[in-house]
Amino acid sequence: MSYYQVKSLEQYFKHYNKSIREPRKFWDKIADENFTWYQKWDKVVEFDMQEADVKWFLNAKVNIVKNCIDRHLAKRGEKTAIIFEPNDPKEEALHITYNELYDRVAKMANVLRDQGIKKGDRVCIYLPMIPELAIAVLACARIGAIHSVVFAGFSASAVAARIMDSQCKMVITSDGGFRGNKTIDLKCIVDEALEKCLSVKQVLVVKRTGTQVNMKEGRDQWLQPLLDDAVANNVAEIMDAEDPLFILYTSGSTGKPKGMLHTTAGYMVHTAYTFKNIFAYEENDIFWCTADIGWITGHSYILYGPLLNGATTVIFEGVPSYPDFGRFWEVIDKHKVTQFYTAPTAIRSLAKENWEWVDKNDLSSLKVIGSVGEPINEEAWHWYNDHVGKKRAPIVDTWWQTETGGIMISPIPFVTPTKPTYATLPLPGIQPVLMDEKRNEIEGNQVVGSLCIKFPWPGMARTIWGDHQRFKETYFSTFPGKYFTGDGALRDEVGYYRITGRVDDVVIVSGHNLGTAPIEDAINEHPAVAESAIVGYPHDIKGNALYGFIILKETGEGRDRDNLSREINEHISSHIGPIAKLDKIQFVSGLPKTRSGKIMRRILRKIAEGDFSNFGDTSTLLNPEIIDEIKDERV
Ligand code: PRX
Repeated sequence: MSYYQVKSLEQYFKHYNKSIREPRKFWDKIADENFTWYQKWDKVVEFDMQEADVKWFLNAKVNIVKNCIDRHLAKRGEKTAIIFEPNDPKEEALHITYNELYDRVAKMANVLRDQGIKKGDRVCIYLPMIPELAIAVLACARIGAIHSVVFAGFSASAVAARIMDSQCKMVITSDGGFRGNKTIDLKCIVDEALEKCLSVKQVLVVKRTGTQVNMKEGRDQWLQPLLDDAVANNVAEIMDAEDPLFILYTSGSTGKPKGMLHTTAGYMVHTAYTFKNIFAYEENDIFWCTADIGWITGHSYILYGPLLNGATTVIFEGVPSYPDFGRFWEVIDKHKVTQFYTAPTAIRSLAKENWEWVDKNDLSSLKVIGSVGEPINEEAWHWYNDHVGKKRAPIVDTWWQTETGGIMISPIPFVTPTKPTYATLPLPGIQPVLMDEKRNEIEGNQVVGSLCIKFPWPGMARTIWGDHQRFKETYFSTFPGKYFTGDGALRDEVGYYRITGRVDDVVIVSGHNLGTAPIEDAINEHPAVAESAIVGYPHDIKGNALYGFIILKETGEGRDRDNLSREINEHISSHIGPIAKLDKIQFVSGLPKTRSGKIMRRILRKIAEGDFSNFGDTSTLLNPEIIDEIKDERV
């Protein structure tokens, strides 16, 4: 029996039970039967969850890109691997076959090697959603360089912080990027970032927008002439199963961003397996995930998962609202997309437009539609189900994280009956548990708790780059021996999971994971600000928006509040990026603090939500009188 694809509910339970009883045998078989290895493993898994130490497929040798491309060439060489749909619908879409993808990745890999990039070096990729982004990522993985993709919406100082943290040797960027009717000057942002980053010796620049750029002598080179001189043949690096594949930064609830480190073989097995199952993937399907490759969703389900299965994957450069609100649906119709994977924020923003935008297009090619990144509310779920899936294509509400590498809890289409707002059941191999405040595992159904995973899975991040202690403390110490997700969840009467949201100081805004601490740090650097506290509050479109409570210094008190608010938001934009802007700002004279000096965010959250009914226990507050003032002046 193959475990690679689940085809019925009965089979799901069979595979699931096997994966719990004999996890080693389960993953051994999947890894053995579905990939090309230079050398197989001595042991499937070795772990110490107390120490946050996990290894999969020990001593196996493999190259993930050979599995994504080379092994498909004999059978699928002329099949389209990537469809590139440009920002401007008038620009022609590109179809890149597996043969062409091989050539382009091989050339790029040779360019990187010629430029001195070696196995283990870190390469920062700061590119818009163009084929070169995929090619750069795959070229790094082919030669064993560790890619660190930074989303092209991040500001210069956010890019700099990420480059410095992982000491990247090279940056791959472009002159600019198109997004809707805007052009973003990426090279300019890189130039500014690099003023502080001494580790970067080279910058390779893709030409996309034709924007005038500065090329720094001895550091910057246009990529195309280098590619023109490269040969389309490349011997892939032999990688150990646990060699690092990539670093991807995610916000922490405190301090600087966390460089989550993913390694090679486990990530490969997990993303391939989940892609095949969650999207009921069959040969000749056209898969479209609308995320950006700068986020984990793009890594795992635009690139690695689909290509590992020899699929055709769409890379979309644009935004859902350009040139109009019909764009997503036109693209589905144009390329006859069979699986469509997007975020609740996009669904909500399109649902508020006239549904005729959807109905103008033929969506009958769709087989499965997916949701990821934040809880999907009931109304959005039904709109998606009715207008996009036409009650025919099931919704897969997929729960997972940058840290988990791939999908963890989700319906399997045509197998798991869906339930609005529920991510439903764990994938085979995944062992979720709910924990109570006393750190005990909550048994049974119809219960609520903190979501943990109690057994390792292949795709899990192995550490935080350069800071294993932080990795251990953040994820493995709250509930010792278990991986703590930071999410709360409920388990219903049949054992289905519903994710209720973060239980820490991370707020998910439009599907972007934002730590409140780094935003507060940025605000506090503004010369007029003494202190600040940021909380999330529910927002119709974005899921959550940010509410800032700000104490001014004396120097700031006489200033015009609207101007100051604007300045503070500009300040956040330049430190972190426009996604972290505050929707509401309230200037306050104090913040509710405990005697130990900790801000009681629970109260601020309630005020931001407009819920003044019950502030709970305030006896530990040093300044309870401040609550009335803040409440009365809520904006
Ligand atoms: O709170 C959960 C939410 O997104 C967080 C992970 O964010 P990030 O690492 O950026 O990865 C997003 C894409 C995988 C989770 O801790 N989240 C993700 N998917 C869902 C979700 N919340 C509810 N339902 C989901 N399907």
